[in-house]
Amino acid sequence: MDVRSEIIYMLKMANIFKKVLIIGSGGREHALVKACLKSPLVETVIAAPGNGGMKKEVECFDAKIEEPQEIVKLAIEQSVDFAIIGPEIPLCEGAVDALEAVGILTYGPNKSAARFEGSKIFTKEFLKKYKIPSAAFEKFSDSTSAIDYLRSLDHPPVIKASGLAAGKGVFIPESIQEAIEVVRSVMDEKIFGDSGSEIVIEEFMDGEETSFHIMVSGEYFAMLPTSRDHKRAGNGDTGLNTGGMGAYSPARDIPKSLFNRIVEEIVRPTIQGFIRDHINYRGTLYIGLMLTTEGPKVVEFNVRFGDPETQVLLPMLAQDPVDLMIKCAKGQKVPEIIPQKSGASAIVVLAASGYPNTYPKGDIISENKTPDGVEIIHAGTLMNKEGQVITNGGRVLGVTAYGENIDQAIKKAYQGVDAVDYASKYYRTDIGQVRGTF
Ligand SMILES: Nc1ncnc2c1ncn2[C@@H]1O[C@H](COP(=O)(O)OP(=O)(O)OP(=O)(O)O)[C@@H](O)[C@H]1O
Ligand SMILES: [Mg+2]
Repeated sequence: MDVRSEIIYMLKMANIFKKVLIIGSGGREHALVKACLKSPLVETVIAAPGNGGMKKEVECFDAKIEEPQEIVKLAIEQSVDFAIIGPEIPLCEGAVDALEAVGILTYGPNKSAARFEGSKIFTKEFLKKYKIPSAAFEKFSDSTSAIDYLRSLDHPPVIKASGLAAGKGVFIPESIQEAIEVVRSVMDEKIFGDSGSEIVIEEFMDGEETSFHIMVSGEYFAMLPTSRDHKRAGNGDTGLNTGGMGAYSPARDIPKSLFNRIVEEIVRPTIQGFIRDHINYRGTLYIGLMLTTEGPKVVEFNVRFGDPETQVLLPMLAQDPVDLMIKCAKGQKVPEIIPQKSGASAIVVLAASGYPNTYPKGDIISENKTPDGVEIIHAGTLMNKEGQVITNGGRVLGVTAYGENIDQAIKKAYQGVDAVDYASKYYRTDIGQVRGTF
């Protein structure tokens, strides 16, 4: 760091500069924008690239966010004091390292720590090393040995491309033959490019799935409230898997004893492993878990907030999330359990009909005033040249609501659904009423 960067960094340590940059364009990032706008620590919020809804609230900039130097250029031009990186790709590409190298405080794991999402092999080896419960696995970097191994198995396993594959790189085949075909398409036909040049073959875990969000601040960690989401496209948790059709917080079915068990058997050993391996993790850790008859086991680590979980978690915090993110970015002490509001929050995702397959784009969105306590979060939207907000993705908007309890929050969110309209509007009508799948 040169002298100028060092001075800027010191000023920021004292929270003197207050311009925040949010990187990303989804519902998660719009929720982060809203949290920053509410924070007394923040004066100005900007975003890149943003979406149609974010554009109505803050200045948005076009930037190739997959390239760390593009983010750095924007952040320097805009004299940003604090950056929050939403999606995994810029994190895995080293956006945090690049921003910190020019003295800009940033929330999110650095490139080395982001390997917990960018490489499933890296995570599996870490879990094994620290004896953190997870499925038994083998790793392969050539298809011949992977196929030989598959032929030696009695039951079809789970197959995962090791690298990033936009949530599409995991297969649960029904037969060994199908598993062999998966290996051929991932490793030989390279359907995910280099992300599939190494694979993990792991034991199938039976059980209920759940997930936990943790804000990690070096040697400290802060548990966020529990949440549950609905991944299937259709009512009754049926149909295709999606990015998420709705969520609520707190989860109805995580008793305190289970929560404590997960902290002690999974979270604490993970943070201790980070310290031992000199991984300076400062950002969100999203742990996917399977609750098996043998106890909770790790399915995966993600290195960023979930979407749509973020939209229900942030409103539940009784402490300013920006204050927590700044503390984590600096590696300062944070409370192990983040104080939580007494009520509940919910989100109903409004999609474009046809999602997650093909769906139309370009429908004009009309938005009326929402009831008190209800907010519209934008995801796949953009603002056209005429200033109209139009649909531009499968998950278009999210209607969030806060209520005294889960049922009330859900009821209010559904009342808010009527405040927005567009031709291809599609949503589930049973969020929070059925169990939820992941
Ligand atoms: N060993 C396993 N046994 C049973 N199911 C599994 C196993 N591994 C993964 N799954 C199922 O596959 C899903 C996706 O797996 P995983 O979370 O590893 O992939 P991902 O592509 O990183 O997901 P995401 O997009 O949520 O980050 C899990 O949510 C779970 O339902
Ligand atoms: Mg993942």
